[in-house]
Amino acid sequence: MELNHQLPKAAKCQPAEVKLEAGKTYSWCTCGLSDKQPFCDGKHKATWYEENGTTVMPYRSLKINAEKDETVWLCQCKHTKNPPFCDGSHKLEEVQAKHRNQQSEEI
Ligand code: FES
Repeated sequence: MELNHQLPKAAKCQPAEVKLEAGKTYSWCTCGLSDKQPFCDGKHKATWYEENGTTVMPYRSLKINAEKDETVWLCQCKHTKNPPFCDGSHKLEEVQAKHRNQQSEEI
């Protein structure tokens, strides 16, 4: 649960340019812990906790079903208001400060 207070982690303060292929499904990382940014590598499974006898999983990957071949900019700071796409939120000082602090703490 302590880990969750620091999430989502601002993995990188810049978007990733990604070429999506029509018909493929991609899993976008929502927690910021993945080492395969901007995609999920399953590390969100460490965020589970129990509450009133129920297992809660606060983070899960977000599926992207590509309907056509296209190049998109996927968020890596995990603070976009338009997930999974970058909306420029990575430029906010609070997001950049979070990224700097998390890099020094290495969560
Ligand atoms: S990388 Fe997250 S909003 Fe741009």
